Amino acid sequence: MKNNPKSMIMGMGSAVPEKVLTNHDLEKMVDTSDKWIRERTGIEKRHILEEGKTNSDLAVDAAQRALEDAGMSAEELECIIVATISPDSFFPSTACQVQAKIGAVNAAAMDISAACSGFLYAMNLVDKLIGSGQYQNVLIIGSEVLSRFTDWEDRATCVLFGDGAGAAVIGPSDGEKGILSTYMKSDGRLGYLLHLPGGGATCPTSHQTVDQHLHYIKMAGQEVFKHAVRTMVDAAIHGLKRSGHQVEDVDLLITHQANVRIIDAVAKRVKLPKEKVFINVNQYGNTSAASIPLAMDQAKKEGRLKKGDLCLLVAFGGGFTWASSVVQF
Ligand code: ACO
Repeated sequence: MKNNPKSMIMGMGSAVPEKVLTNHDLEKMVDTSDKWIRERTGIEKRHILEEGKTNSDLAVDAAQRALEDAGMSAEELECIIVATISPDSFFPSTACQVQAKIGAVNAAAMDISAACSGFLYAMNLVDKLIGSGQYQNVLIIGSEVLSRFTDWEDRATCVLFGDGAGAAVIGPSDGEKGILSTYMKSDGRLGYLLHLPGGGATCPTSHQTVDQHLHYIKMAGQEVFKHAVRTMVDAAIHGLKRSGHQVEDVDLLITHQANVRIIDAVAKRVKLPKEKVFINVNQYGNTSAASIPLAMDQAKKEGRLKKGDLCLLVAFGGGFTWASSVVQF
């Protein structure tokens, strides 16, 4: 039985910094090669936020484009959620910074920390908030400046990440379009495979933590790869089961953009042909919580997501966290 959507995407927008860092640029910084990065990850370049700007600046650019696309003013917003693991600061939240910068004086604002699954976690929660009648106009943003938390001396991680932001205004469904299913899961036992050890209450900032590079992303790449494929397949299957669709009904699969080999493996296991799979990790690298909305916005603009299309959104990230949504456009 098909679900009736309670909420839908009313507008979308995205933003990436102007500065581009290519694989060839990285060849001059660490012992790597354009060939290795392309073959192992599919990444060709990534965007890096310029000094003097911060996460909320990128988030604001994406948010303003999404508001314009939705034909809505900032004052009309009732809630703002920013999904990020690279916030402006521990507190106040990046969402509060965005609220102040866009003048959304009537909104509640908060951040969500679910790494690369953050945007789908936010969208799935907002679907319930709107379904309950609590809110009508909600802005969600996935925004990251992982370049500030990347060890530029560690070739195993620094070639992977990029900065960017994507935003969506979510409101009540018109009855046909909208979010048809939501699915979220976590496994905290795997947290040690992908983490940023320094600066929190466990390991407060000290000269020692700085000397030991503990304020940067640490990752067991191969282990993360395996779990990424397994969890995104799980999320895809459960998302479709909950929306009452078969994989053949899907017009476009948008997964978290971490590595083209991970995306290919997921598509193969859920039996979706290449032409139904959106890929832009080659242009942006892994932008964590920004990756899904960045891809959705680009897919819409390029005509890959048209009115009436069924889109399967699937993400995984540190935590571990994983999630999916089936959305009728
Ligand atoms: N350039 C050249 N060589 C490199 C580089 C590099 N940048 N990085 C590692 N190598 C070397 C390794 O040292 C190793 O050398 P060795 O065989 O002499 O020991 C060799 O390349 C192979 O390394 P692997 O780690 O086995 O390479 P793999 O094929 O697994 O690719 C990668 C590594 C790209 C990191 C892959 O494992 C991956 O994509 N993992 C998942 C990453 C991911 O999705 N992270 C999600 C983060 S999302 C979030 O929540 C923030």
